Amino acid sequence: MKVVSKISDLKSQIGEWKKASYSIGFCPTMGSLHAGHLDLVETSKKETDKTIVSIFVNPTQFNDPKDFEQYPVKTDDDLLLCESKAVDLVFLPEVKTMYPETKTPILLSIPELQKHLCGRTRPGHFEGVLQIVSKLFHLIEPNKAFFGLKDYQQFRVISAMVENLNFPLEVIGVPTRREEDGLAMSSRNVRLSEKERETASLIPRMFALAKKTILSGERDLNLWKEILRDFLLTGSSVRIDYLEVVDPIILQPKEKLEAEVLLAIAVFVGEVRLIDNQIIQIPN
Ligand code: PAF
Repeated sequence: MKVVSKISDLKSQIGEWKKASYSIGFCPTMGSLHAGHLDLVETSKKETDKTIVSIFVNPTQFNDPKDFEQYPVKTDDDLLLCESKAVDLVFLPEVKTMYPETKTPILLSIPELQKHLCGRTRPGHFEGVLQIVSKLFHLIEPNKAFFGLKDYQQFRVISAMVENLNFPLEVIGVPTRREEDGLAMSSRNVRLSEKERETASLIPRMFALAKKTILSGERDLNLWKEILRDFLLTGSSVRIDYLEVVDPIILQPKEKLEAEVLLAIAVFVGEVRLIDNQIIQIPN
């Protein structure tokens, strides 16, 4: 496995692979890898010839500087995990490599898709994500790029950027990997105390309740959201950032419980912000 930090080293290896007509799969990450990231790698390895993982905690996507400072960094462990999955190359750039001083920064955004959910409560977050992902796409020129569906809005925003700006690659969403109790795996989970980790299990239980109430005939959207909110708030240290029901494609709020809806939440358990979502089919 190659580990490179310089753009010139990255480009020279990619150049060789392109010359040999290898297809390239790309898994962008911010490190602190867990089984969910490894699912991206495994999918990439099945679907492409060479798999590149980037590990870069991107400062421009953190709207809260404290969150950035506390983001867990475990580079040595990450490299061992990548090695164990036979990743072909890890790109580990420094901040100054990705963001050389510029007096004319560029901002990308897809306002319609960013009006709600994390786009509403984390202003500037998706501009930072699109900035780094578009730079990485240009450097790596992957055939396919893999993103976890836990960050569903991120997946939609990046897919729309690729479509709108004609990036020559396919964006692939990989299902959320969950702990035994159903909690979505996240690099942030390590910051939960034992008690908070227990409280966090309210999240998967809330999704189970959401499905159960729909199956038992609930169709009042506001009442449904109230039931789910009240359930989450039984956790002592829980603060709801948002609980929204939107269309899974255009991410606009649904007015009725019909067809297919995306139930998406962000909650603080203590200081730790956790997100999750599920697409729920509403029977006629
Ligand atoms: O999902 C993440 O880890 C990050 O938002 C990404 C896509 C690596 C961009 O920094």
